[in-house]
Amino acid sequence: MINILFVCLGNICRSPAAEAVFKKVIDEKKLDDRFRCESAGILDYHQGKPCDPRMDQALNQRGYMSSSLSRPVVVNDFEHFDYIVAMDHSNLRDLKNLEPDSSKAKIHLLSDFSINHRQEEVPDPYYGGMEGFNLVIDMVEDAINGIINRVKA
Ligand code: 4NP
Repeated sequence: MINILFVCLGNICRSPAAEAVFKKVIDEKKLDDRFRCESAGILDYHQGKPCDPRMDQALNQRGYMSSSLSRPVVVNDFEHFDYIVAMDHSNLRDLKNLEPDSSKAKIHLLSDFSINHRQEEVPDPYYGGMEGFNLVIDMVEDAINGIINRVKA
């Protein structure tokens, strides 16, 4: 079993979207016996909260469902997860600072796995309009196909 943790700042927009898309793709490809995923945030500010309603709406419109509740990254995640996937450079830096010596996780930017998108960072949609939420889903769909192809191989 390959365990993947998607990480953004608040765990209410970008990483819950990655988790929802990943779970649906895994289910459709009948790979649920090979992959498991969760999401988490650098901050604990939104702990216990579901996905932001704007991201929930954007996900539902494209046939995805989010069931995640926000939680912060914890040290134990670096031992449990095989891959920890950050949405932007700031998340990546924060993860490297939290990483214990005992870590076995491979830490990546989501865009390391992009197939068509050239942008390195998934922009934080929190303070913008719906187009930002849809762009997150576009980027996540592209990279998740890349992750599955790479990690399965
Ligand atoms: P996310 O978006 O990192 O994609 O979940 C954010 C949500 C909340 C905040 C920042 C980013 N915030 O500062 O509250």
